[in-house]
Amino acid sequence: MIMKTLRKTLWVSLALGMAFVFFACSQQQTSPNTQKKQFIDSLISEMTVEEKIGQMTLLTSGWSQTGPTMNDNYMEMIRKGQCGNVFNALTVDYNRKLQKIAVEETRLGIPLLFGYDVIHGFKTIFPIPLAESCSWDTTMIRKTARLASKEASASGVTWTFNPMVDISRDPRWGRIAEGAGEDPFLASAIAKAKVKGHQGGDLSDSQTLAACVKHMAAYGAPIAGRDYNTVDMSKRRFKEVYMPPYKAAVEADVASMMTSFNELFGIPATGSHYLLTELLRDQWNYKGMVVTDYTSIPEMIDHGYARDEKHAAELALNAGVDMDMQGASYHEYLKKSLEEGKVTEKQLNKAVRRVLGMKYDLGLFEDPYRYLDNEREDRIIHSQEMMEHALESAKESVVLLKNDAHRGSKVLPLSKDIGSIALVGPLADNQREHLGAWHASGTDSLVTTVRKGLEKEFPNTAIRYAQGCDFTGNDKSGFDQALANAQRSDVVVMAVGEKHTQSGEAASRSDIGLPGVQLDLVKEMVATGKPVVVMVMAGRPMTLPWIDENVPAILNTWHLGTRAGDAVADILSGQTNPSGKLTSTFPRNVGQIPIYYSHKKTGRPYDPNDGYTSRYLDVPNSPLYPFGYGLSYTTFEYSNMQVDKEKIGFGEPLTVTVNIKNTGDRKGEEVVQLYTRDMVGSVTRPVKELKGFRKIALEPGQERRVQFNVSSDDLRFYTADMEYQAEPGKFKVFVGTSSADVMEKSFELVGK
Ligand code: BGC
Repeated sequence: MIMKTLRKTLWVSLALGMAFVFFACSQQQTSPNTQKKQFIDSLISEMTVEEKIGQMTLLTSGWSQTGPTMNDNYMEMIRKGQCGNVFNALTVDYNRKLQKIAVEETRLGIPLLFGYDVIHGFKTIFPIPLAESCSWDTTMIRKTARLASKEASASGVTWTFNPMVDISRDPRWGRIAEGAGEDPFLASAIAKAKVKGHQGGDLSDSQTLAACVKHMAAYGAPIAGRDYNTVDMSKRRFKEVYMPPYKAAVEADVASMMTSFNELFGIPATGSHYLLTELLRDQWNYKGMVVTDYTSIPEMIDHGYARDEKHAAELALNAGVDMDMQGASYHEYLKKSLEEGKVTEKQLNKAVRRVLGMKYDLGLFEDPYRYLDNEREDRIIHSQEMMEHALESAKESVVLLKNDAHRGSKVLPLSKDIGSIALVGPLADNQREHLGAWHASGTDSLVTTVRKGLEKEFPNTAIRYAQGCDFTGNDKSGFDQALANAQRSDVVVMAVGEKHTQSGEAASRSDIGLPGVQLDLVKEMVATGKPVVVMVMAGRPMTLPWIDENVPAILNTWHLGTRAGDAVADILSGQTNPSGKLTSTFPRNVGQIPIYYSHKKTGRPYDPNDGYTSRYLDVPNSPLYPFGYGLSYTTFEYSNMQVDKEKIGFGEPLTVTVNIKNTGDRKGEEVVQLYTRDMVGSVTRPVKELKGFRKIALEPGQERRVQFNVSSDDLRFYTADMEYQAEPGKFKVFVGTSSADVMEKSFELVGK
């Protein structure tokens, strides 16, 4: 009762304060930022140390956990003001219950943040992020983030732990599924699109979410591709390759950032003053909030960086961490550290200010229940808009890897009049696995299976389904039925790949071929002599050398989400022409990893005929499928590439133009890619770096001239002195359909 009275008194005084500020504002034009500052200042001045630490604490509701649960008494902690933020709490009814405790039963009534991993959809699931990146369509990707926010916010979520922008050049790492592939330029564009999509123009809009870019930093480069493993790289590589997407998210005003589990430069990221203060705050001027990853504060003990949990909490706060996710280390120890002078109240205030700032921006002080509307929840979840976008985004994510002729004609697309299809494989009649890694609260019962999709798209065709085998294990007892179906059908369509748990967090693999006996099943199908289409449905690039050599048609569809079956059926029939391009290199075998297009040339560049060059004895250097690669049912011809100058000065644009013609007989989309190469530098430069891309649609026979501008800004890198600038000299510029299939011109950067 006393607490309630105190809380009420405070709110009244804050409300009066606000009214005064508002009045003063109308008189003297107080800026919204000043109003926010004044509100937060007065709130902080009322807070006890315990309440401050409470605001710096984030605990899981225990509904769906992504790691060990350390506190199951979180409701009691909310009531005591010891836990100001909750994640994995869902539904309007449940979150209202929790919000009511925070608002009505705590002394100050500060509302809770509700966090959740809305990575590629909430209940309606869109393609996994790696798949969607293959669309190279930032407008579409932004829309995906907007709709995911709309659906999740309708269920009481206010904050998403997305986007994950970690560059990865190692498909053994299961979390490659969550990112945008290997390239910093493309990944930065996608990072921006996602932040803007989630946050919209106004965080207080109840249909938007606060975003959280993760995982700072370089989490995608664990040694040997094993999740959580040590990361060790040069600062130059970190800054040029791994850092840009985080920076892009900061430039897009991301509301929060998550630290990573790994160490970098010998220090766990969660305790890294360099990452969280020098880089983030001092150099990038980042104003948002920093939260740890799940229990990564106490994990600093295992890292061998903190003596004990109290020390770990001090290291985290001193490095620049504002909020402790699930460690409860701030809760347990910060007060003592403060009494001992190991941390200061000023540091607490800084952290609390950022947390409260986020709540303020979300509009929670104005109305703590603004995201909690039952009618909206019923109306938005799985609405037509969501389901339609799930189909559109899925279709755009598919990459056609191969489409050769079988007995004189191309295998794909399949004729709508085809008499019979043998449909085979563990993903052919499966719902759940299409949701992919990190599928939030995805509803598997609504997923369209490949089987359903084909039955709808080919109503006059006999669809003969047999699973053939499971994802894992050695059981081949289903092969006979699949074989019998194949022998009496016109074509074999296979849906093979990974379960959703075979990629994502804690799902690294040392062998990234098809698991179980799936490859044996493919071989049996090919041996029938029937035309075979293999759809690889997985969360990572896989090694597919046998399939590439022996199967005429291959689609890499990834995990496509709720409308997976409809999307692939549209592509198989040619209703949709595939336009995806790979954003991560497909190796021939695991031994080639890490493999990526923007490698250095070396002093002994690859020469297959010279043994003393940089090469393998048993495999070519080239990948199976390069970055930027993807076919279409039509063909595109590039011609007449031109640069408008031979020399440019600093700040002066170079215009690069090229003609692209659709030389086939159906409409198609092409991702035109521009790369540059700095021929000589104060440090060596990669053989190619992506600097531009454009996705264009062309009718059959249509030709378009596409233009790119390149300036010295695009040619910057970290020089020998670690200055971020361009160096004068000779460059090459390439335009093409993939990183390995380009036309080229030269130019020179002069001056300075
Ligand atoms: C993951 C994060 C995620 C968090 C909360 C962690 O295990 O690494 O990406 O946001 O859990 O679910």
